[in-house]
Amino acid sequence: LSTALLALALGYLLGSIPFGLLLTKAAGLGDIRSIGSGNIGATNVLRTGNKKLAAATLLLDAFKATAGALLAGALWGPEAAILGGFAAFIGHLFPVWLGFKGGKGVATYIGTLLGVAPAMVLVFAFVWLTVAKLSRYSSLSALVATLVIPVALWIVGEQKIALVMAVMTVISYWKHKANIERLINGTESRIGQKG
Ligand code: G3P
Repeated sequence: LSTALLALALGYLLGSIPFGLLLTKAAGLGDIRSIGSGNIGATNVLRTGNKKLAAATLLLDAFKATAGALLAGALWGPEAAILGGFAAFIGHLFPVWLGFKGGKGVATYIGTLLGVAPAMVLVFAFVWLTVAKLSRYSSLSALVATLVIPVALWIVGEQKIALVMAVMTVISYWKHKANIERLINGTESRIGQKG
């Protein structure tokens, strides 16, 4: 088995742990997939009204991708780190345990960045927070931030990471299809809204 495949498998397994689903179930809040947008991510966990659980979901979903990148990197080198983070992102979006119906990959995107280009997390946070402050849309904030990151990476000379993150941006956009439609219709729910 090549090290690339091992990095992909390790990342995928870590990424496929659906923390949002597990935490809300453990807290007795029922199945997060039948609440709000039906997504398993932190934004939707916030719709249960439990801010701490939402924050924990964001952190754990991010750190599982960071762990995938850092572990793969420590075991098999820097290229494996990118693969490990990428695979964690894929594992979150398409977890075998949930019939491949996972999240939209915003937290795992940040976590991967933290593992392979940590300074870029500041860029992500700045863009996300700025758009969120102006619009109160979590989805729009993520859509803008994940568009900026590959460009920023390219500008600072991290071409390889920029290309992988660009692929992740495209996949995350595809997962945000319904959000994009709602943003266009004006029916997207704002941060903190139940709907
Ligand atoms: O982090 C995912 C976010 O961009 C959208 O989540 O639940 O509003 O579809 P949600």
